[in-house]
Amino acid sequence: MIKRGVRRVLRRLGYDILKVPPSRVVRPEQEPPAITPIWPLPRNPGGPSDDEITKEFARYNFWHYAYEFEGDLSFPTRHNNPGLDTDVAGRHLQRFHHFMPYLITACGGSLEGKRILDVACNSGFWSIQCALRGAEVVGFDARAELIEQAQLLKRITGANGVEFRLLDFWEMSPEVLGNFDVVLNLGFLYHVPEPLEALERTKRMAGEYILLDTAVHPALECAIHLKWEEP
Ligand SMILES: C[S@@+](CC[C@H](N)C(=O)[O-])C[C@H]1O[C@@H](n2cnc3c(N)ncnc32)[C@H](O)[C@@H]1O
Repeated sequence: MIKRGVRRVLRRLGYDILKVPPSRVVRPEQEPPAITPIWPLPRNPGGPSDDEITKEFARYNFWHYAYEFEGDLSFPTRHNNPGLDTDVAGRHLQRFHHFMPYLITACGGSLEGKRILDVACNSGFWSIQCALRGAEVVGFDARAELIEQAQLLKRITGANGVEFRLLDFWEMSPEVLGNFDVVLNLGFLYHVPEPLEALERTKRMAGEYILLDTAVHPALECAIHLKWEEP
Protein backbone atom coordinates (compact mmCIF):
# COMPACT_ATOMS: atom_id res chain seq x y z
CA MET A 1 0.00 0.00 0.00
CA ILE A 2 2.66 2.47 1.18
CA LYS A 3 4.95 1.50 -1.69
CA ARG A 4 2.13 1.97 -4.20
CA GLY A 5 1.31 5.37 -2.73
CA VAL A 6 4.92 6.52 -2.76
CA ARG A 7 5.28 5.24 -6.27
CA ARG A 8 2.20 7.10 -7.47
CA VAL A 9 3.50 10.36 -5.98
CA LEU A 10 6.93 9.81 -7.48
CA ARG A 11 5.47 9.05 -10.87
CA ARG A 12 3.50 12.28 -10.78
CA LEU A 13 6.81 14.04 -10.21
CA GLY A 14 8.36 12.17 -13.13
CA TYR A 15 10.32 9.57 -11.09
CA ASP A 16 9.98 5.83 -10.66
CA ILE A 17 11.25 3.15 -8.26
CA LEU A 18 13.60 0.60 -9.71
CA LYS A 19 14.72 -2.54 -7.88
CA VAL A 20 18.33 -3.32 -8.73
CA PRO A 21 19.16 -7.03 -8.38
CA PRO A 22 22.45 -7.70 -6.54
CA SER A 23 25.25 -8.34 -9.01
CA ARG A 24 26.57 -11.88 -9.17
CA VAL A 25 30.25 -12.51 -9.81
CA VAL A 26 30.68 -15.85 -11.56
CA ARG A 27 34.08 -17.44 -11.18
CA PRO A 28 35.29 -20.64 -12.81
CA GLU A 29 35.25 -23.53 -10.34
CA GLN A 30 38.94 -24.25 -10.78
CA GLU A 31 41.84 -21.95 -11.51
CA PRO A 32 43.89 -23.32 -14.41
CA PRO A 33 47.58 -23.99 -13.85
CA ALA A 34 49.80 -20.97 -14.53
CA ILE A 35 51.10 -20.86 -18.12
CA THR A 36 53.62 -18.24 -19.14
CA PRO A 37 54.03 -16.54 -22.52
CA ILE A 38 56.96 -17.53 -24.74
CA TRP A 39 59.10 -14.53 -23.93
CA PRO A 40 61.47 -13.07 -24.97
CA LEU A 41 60.46 -14.16 -28.45
CA PRO A 42 62.75 -16.66 -30.14
CA ARG A 43 64.86 -15.68 -33.17
CA ASN A 44 64.85 -17.67 -36.37
CA PRO A 45 68.53 -18.44 -37.07
CA GLY A 46 68.03 -17.54 -40.74
CA GLY A 47 65.98 -14.42 -39.94
CA PRO A 48 66.82 -10.70 -40.03
CA SER A 49 69.86 -9.36 -38.15
CA ASP A 50 69.75 -7.01 -35.14
CA ASP A 51 70.35 -4.03 -37.44
CA GLU A 52 67.68 -5.04 -39.90
CA ILE A 53 65.15 -5.55 -37.11
CA THR A 54 66.01 -2.20 -35.50
CA LYS A 55 65.61 -0.44 -38.85
CA GLU A 56 62.25 -2.12 -39.48
CA PHE A 57 60.93 -1.20 -36.04
CA ALA A 58 61.95 2.44 -36.62
CA ARG A 59 59.84 2.60 -39.79
CA TYR A 60 56.59 2.66 -37.84
CA ASN A 61 55.31 5.38 -35.52
CA PHE A 62 52.88 3.07 -33.85
CA TRP A 63 53.66 -0.14 -31.97
CA HIS A 64 50.84 -1.42 -29.80
CA TYR A 65 53.02 -3.87 -27.85
CA ALA A 66 56.55 -3.65 -26.51
CA TYR A 67 58.62 -6.50 -28.00
CA GLU A 68 61.59 -8.40 -26.62
CA PHE A 69 63.66 -10.86 -28.61
CA GLU A 70 66.33 -13.35 -27.71
CA GLY A 71 69.76 -11.75 -27.75
CA ASP A 72 68.80 -8.73 -25.64
CA LEU A 73 66.96 -6.92 -28.38
CA SER A 74 63.93 -4.98 -27.20
CA PHE A 75 61.60 -2.24 -28.42
CA PRO A 76 59.11 -0.15 -26.44
CA THR A 77 55.53 0.61 -27.41
CA ARG A 78 55.14 3.69 -29.63
CA HIS A 79 51.91 5.62 -29.80
CA ASN A 80 50.21 8.98 -29.42
CA ASN A 81 47.37 7.63 -27.38
CA PRO A 82 48.36 7.41 -23.70
CA GLY A 83 46.41 4.93 -21.60
CA LEU A 84 46.47 1.65 -19.80
CA ASP A 85 46.62 -0.35 -23.03
CA THR A 86 49.49 1.58 -24.50
CA ASP A 87 51.63 2.89 -21.61
CA VAL A 88 52.18 -0.27 -19.60
CA ALA A 89 55.05 -2.06 -21.33
CA GLY A 90 54.10 -5.50 -19.97
CA ARG A 91 50.38 -5.14 -20.56
CA HIS A 92 50.18 -7.88 -23.22
CA LEU A 93 52.10 -10.30 -20.97
CA GLN A 94 49.80 -9.44 -18.07
CA ARG A 95 46.78 -10.14 -20.30
CA PHE A 96 48.35 -13.44 -21.37
CA HIS A 97 48.67 -14.53 -17.70
CA HIS A 98 45.12 -13.38 -17.12
CA PHE A 99 43.28 -15.39 -19.78
CA MET A 100 45.46 -17.66 -21.92
CA PRO A 101 45.83 -20.40 -19.26
CA TYR A 102 42.02 -20.85 -19.38
CA LEU A 103 42.08 -21.37 -23.14
CA ILE A 104 45.08 -23.69 -23.16
CA THR A 105 43.63 -25.74 -20.30
CA ALA A 106 40.25 -25.95 -22.07
CA CYS A 107 42.10 -27.24 -25.15
CA GLY A 108 43.55 -30.12 -23.11
CA GLY A 109 46.76 -28.38 -22.05
CA SER A 110 48.12 -27.73 -25.54
CA LEU A 111 47.35 -25.74 -28.69
CA GLU A 112 49.25 -28.22 -30.87
CA GLY A 113 47.35 -28.76 -34.12
CA LYS A 114 44.49 -26.40 -33.24
CA ARG A 115 43.21 -24.08 -36.00
CA ILE A 116 43.08 -20.64 -34.44
CA LEU A 117 41.69 -17.42 -35.87
CA ASP A 118 43.05 -14.18 -34.39
CA VAL A 119 40.52 -11.42 -35.08
CA ALA A 120 42.05 -7.91 -35.36
CA CYS A 121 45.51 -9.34 -34.77
CA ASN A 122 47.37 -6.01 -34.70
CA SER A 123 51.12 -6.76 -35.02
CA GLY A 124 50.52 -10.43 -34.27
CA PHE A 125 51.51 -10.93 -30.63
CA TRP A 126 48.70 -13.43 -29.95
CA SER A 127 48.98 -15.21 -33.30
CA ILE A 128 52.70 -15.69 -32.82
CA GLN A 129 52.25 -16.97 -29.26
CA CYS A 130 49.75 -19.56 -30.51
CA ALA A 131 51.86 -20.54 -33.54
CA LEU A 132 54.92 -21.03 -31.32
CA ARG A 133 52.80 -23.47 -29.33
CA GLY A 134 52.07 -25.55 -32.42
CA ALA A 135 48.75 -24.07 -33.56
CA GLU A 136 47.88 -23.35 -37.18
CA VAL A 137 46.92 -19.68 -37.06
CA VAL A 138 45.29 -17.11 -39.31
CA GLY A 139 45.53 -13.53 -38.04
CA PHE A 140 43.87 -10.63 -39.79
CA ASP A 141 43.59 -6.90 -39.29
CA ALA A 142 42.13 -4.05 -41.32
CA ARG A 143 45.27 -1.89 -41.13
CA ALA A 144 47.92 -2.61 -43.73
CA GLU A 145 50.84 -1.32 -41.62
CA LEU A 146 49.88 -3.66 -38.78
CA ILE A 147 49.89 -6.64 -41.10
CA GLU A 148 53.36 -5.54 -42.29
CA GLN A 149 54.49 -5.48 -38.65
CA ALA A 150 52.99 -8.93 -38.09
CA GLN A 151 54.83 -10.28 -41.15
CA LEU A 152 58.04 -8.83 -39.71
CA LEU A 153 57.39 -10.63 -36.41
CA LYS A 154 56.84 -13.86 -38.33
CA ARG A 155 60.16 -13.45 -40.19
CA ILE A 156 62.02 -12.69 -36.95
CA THR A 157 60.60 -15.58 -34.94
CA GLY A 158 60.28 -18.12 -37.76
CA ALA A 159 56.75 -18.94 -36.57
CA ASN A 160 55.76 -20.55 -39.84
CA GLY A 161 52.40 -21.86 -38.72
CA VAL A 162 50.81 -18.42 -38.96
CA GLU A 163 49.34 -16.63 -41.97
CA PHE A 164 48.57 -12.91 -41.72
CA ARG A 165 45.92 -11.30 -43.89
CA LEU A 166 44.66 -7.80 -44.52
CA LEU A 167 40.91 -8.03 -44.03
CA ASP A 168 38.04 -6.02 -42.67
CA PHE A 169 36.17 -7.80 -39.88
CA TRP A 170 32.88 -7.53 -41.77
CA GLU A 171 34.35 -9.54 -44.64
CA MET A 172 35.25 -12.40 -42.29
CA SER A 173 33.41 -15.64 -43.10
CA PRO A 174 34.14 -19.38 -43.22
CA GLU A 175 34.04 -19.11 -47.02
CA VAL A 176 36.86 -16.53 -46.99
CA LEU A 177 39.00 -17.90 -44.14
CA GLY A 178 37.97 -21.53 -43.56
CA ASN A 179 36.89 -23.12 -40.29
CA PHE A 180 38.59 -22.82 -36.91
CA ASP A 181 38.61 -24.62 -33.59
CA VAL A 182 39.27 -21.45 -31.62
CA VAL A 183 38.65 -17.78 -32.30
CA LEU A 184 40.50 -15.08 -30.38
CA ASN A 185 38.32 -12.00 -30.22
CA LEU A 186 40.53 -9.75 -28.12
CA GLY A 187 40.30 -6.01 -27.64
CA PHE A 188 37.97 -5.66 -30.58
CA LEU A 189 34.27 -5.53 -29.66
CA TYR A 190 34.48 -1.95 -28.41
CA HIS A 191 35.72 -0.84 -31.83
CA VAL A 192 32.49 -1.68 -33.61
CA PRO A 193 29.05 -0.13 -33.45
CA GLU A 194 27.33 -3.54 -33.67
CA PRO A 195 29.02 -5.67 -30.98
CA LEU A 196 26.22 -8.26 -30.88
CA GLU A 197 26.37 -8.79 -34.63
CA ALA A 198 30.16 -9.03 -34.27
CA LEU A 199 29.72 -11.74 -31.63
CA GLU A 200 27.31 -13.67 -33.87
CA ARG A 201 29.85 -13.57 -36.70
CA THR A 202 32.62 -14.64 -34.34
CA LYS A 203 30.51 -17.59 -33.23
CA ARG A 204 30.05 -18.69 -36.85
CA MET A 205 33.85 -19.00 -37.15
CA ALA A 206 34.45 -21.02 -33.97
CA GLY A 207 34.10 -24.81 -33.80
CA GLU A 208 35.02 -25.15 -30.12
CA TYR A 209 35.93 -22.00 -28.24
CA ILE A 210 35.88 -18.22 -28.41
CA LEU A 211 38.31 -16.35 -26.21
CA LEU A 212 36.66 -12.99 -25.67
CA ASP A 213 38.41 -10.01 -24.11
CA THR A 214 36.71 -6.67 -24.05
CA ALA A 215 36.03 -3.66 -21.88
CA VAL A 216 32.91 -3.73 -19.78
CA HIS A 217 31.12 -0.96 -17.99
CA PRO A 218 30.35 -2.31 -14.51
CA ALA A 219 27.15 -0.50 -13.60
CA LEU A 220 25.11 -1.24 -10.50
CA GLU A 221 21.97 -0.46 -12.43
CA CYS A 222 20.46 -2.01 -15.53
CA ALA A 223 22.07 -0.83 -18.74
CA ILE A 224 18.66 -0.41 -20.34
CA HIS A 225 15.77 1.16 -18.46
CA LEU A 226 12.24 0.64 -19.72
CA LYS A 227 10.30 3.60 -18.46
CA TRP A 228 6.60 3.49 -17.72
CA GLU A 229 4.66 6.53 -18.82
CA GLU A 230 1.07 7.67 -18.55
CA PRO A 231 -0.68 6.66 -21.77
C1 LIG B 1 42.89 -2.54 -29.32
S1 LIG B 1 43.57 -3.33 -30.75
C2 LIG B 1 43.50 -5.01 -30.20
C3 LIG B 1 44.61 -5.83 -30.80
C4 LIG B 1 44.66 -7.27 -30.30
N1 LIG B 1 43.52 -8.05 -30.77
C5 LIG B 1 44.77 -7.33 -28.81
O1 LIG B 1 43.77 -7.57 -28.13
O2 LIG B 1 45.87 -7.16 -28.27
C6 LIG B 1 42.23 -3.24 -31.91
C7 LIG B 1 42.56 -3.75 -33.29
O3 LIG B 1 41.36 -3.81 -34.05
C8 LIG B 1 41.70 -3.53 -35.39
N2 LIG B 1 40.45 -3.21 -36.09
C9 LIG B 1 39.59 -2.20 -35.83
N3 LIG B 1 38.53 -2.27 -36.66
C10 LIG B 1 38.73 -3.35 -37.46
C11 LIG B 1 37.97 -3.96 -38.50
N4 LIG B 1 36.80 -3.45 -38.92
N5 LIG B 1 38.45 -5.07 -39.08
C12 LIG B 1 39.63 -5.60 -38.69
N6 LIG B 1 40.40 -5.08 -37.70
C13 LIG B 1 39.96 -3.95 -37.10
C14 LIG B 1 42.68 -2.38 -35.25
O4 LIG B 1 43.44 -2.16 -36.43
C15 LIG B 1 43.52 -2.85 -34.07
O5 LIG B 1 44.61 -3.63 -34.48
